[in-house]
Amino acid sequence: MAKEEEKSSSGGWKEFFWNPRTHEFMGRTASSWGLILLFYVVFYTFLAGMFCLTMYVMLLTLDDYQPTWQDRLSTPGMMIRPKMDSLDITYKIEDTESWDKYSQALDNFLAPYNNTQQVLTNDACEPDKYFIQEDSGDVRNNPKRSCQFNRTQLGDCSGVLDRTFGYQAGQPCVLLKLNRVIGMLPGKDGQTPYVTCGAKRYKVGPDEWKEDSDKIGELEYFPPNGTFNLMYYPYYGKKAQVNYSQPLVAVKFLNITFNTDVNVECKINSNMITQFSERDKFAGRVSFKLRIDKN
Ligand SMILES: *[C@@H]1O[C@H](CO)[C@@H](O)[C@H](O)[C@H]1NC(C)=O
Ligand SMILES: *[C@@H]1O[C@H](CO)[C@@H](O)[C@H](O)[C@H]1NC(C)=O
Ligand SMILES: *[C@@H]1O[C@H](CO)[C@@H](O)[C@H](O)[C@H]1NC(C)=O
Ligand SMILES: *[C@@H]1O[C@H](CO)[C@@H](O)[C@H](O)[C@H]1NC(C)=O
Ligand SMILES: *[C@@H]1O[C@H](CO)[C@@H](O)[C@H](O)[C@H]1NC(C)=O
Repeated sequence: MAKEEEKSSSGGWKEFFWNPRTHEFMGRTASSWGLILLFYVVFYTFLAGMFCLTMYVMLLTLDDYQPTWQDRLSTPGMMIRPKMDSLDITYKIEDTESWDKYSQALDNFLAPYNNTQQVLTNDACEPDKYFIQEDSGDVRNNPKRSCQFNRTQLGDCSGVLDRTFGYQAGQPCVLLKLNRVIGMLPGKDGQTPYVTCGAKRYKVGPDEWKEDSDKIGELEYFPPNGTFNLMYYPYYGKKAQVNYSQPLVAVKFLNITFNTDVNVECKINSNMITQFSERDKFAGRVSFKLRIDKN
């Protein structure tokens, strides 16, 4: 009895794998397997075809020169240079190595702004008005020209006369730039947007705020008044405006208090942008910590 059962059970397993009587492989005949295979081949071919078609139609609607989808980003972000791992700038005047990396970073960042370079690649535009270069209908007006932003426009912060950008003297320069937003017109009625920096209000406890306004000292802006001239706008995108140089504003800390942290906040002021900043307190501004140690 026991022997027979064993035999039939092992035979059952073998028969499931290959049944010589019905010619079934794992419970199905060859034609049944064939149909299943055919079904999956057709099914996946159809899926792949759908994917390709959708992709193709999507790509047709994309414009090489302009993003199809762009947030209505009314307030562009701001960024500073030099920027290391964090936005903090801390160094010791006597320790050359501690500030040399900052002046090196600024020097590298400003290399494309060299006057000779700017004259080669960009136009001397008419200041204080937008440099509009629209396409006429379907005819592309590309490549578009860009305006010169000479390194020397940054005055004492250009690094031309003072190669240490004031870091050695304890009067460091910080460069500010607005993030690029295609098509943005940052001021209306000919009013130029400008940057102001000041002490940042920060929280030190529940309902307790502090600011370092007594430590920040006098500031000097380059170009004068910290303006972003309108001639650098609108920006038409990397592909259309190949030689575009982002305008910069430099702020020089003339009399900052040493041996203490100073929390600084810079923001953009514009009659186009402020009306939106109510919505997002952090848009259009950047804050960083500055600490200069001196024996
Ligand atoms: C830019 O000008 C500075 C001197 O003004 C020079 O040392 C530097 O090599 C120049 N850089 C380029 C990329 O031309
Ligand atoms: C930039 O510098 C060059 C040479 O120094 C000068 O010819 C040009 O007018 C300057 N451009 C601007 C916009 O200041
Ligand atoms: C961009 O700069 C190159 C030189 O580097 C110049 O030959 C070219 O005409 C410039 N293109 C535009 C659109 O300004
Ligand atoms: C800077 O601003 C002041 C007052 O708003 C103005 O009188 C002066 O002409 C401006 N300077 C420049 C170079 O724009
Ligand atoms: C620099 O700031 C200190 C206070 O932190 C002040 O006593 C001093 O008069 C300022 N110097 C100049 C030149 O403004």
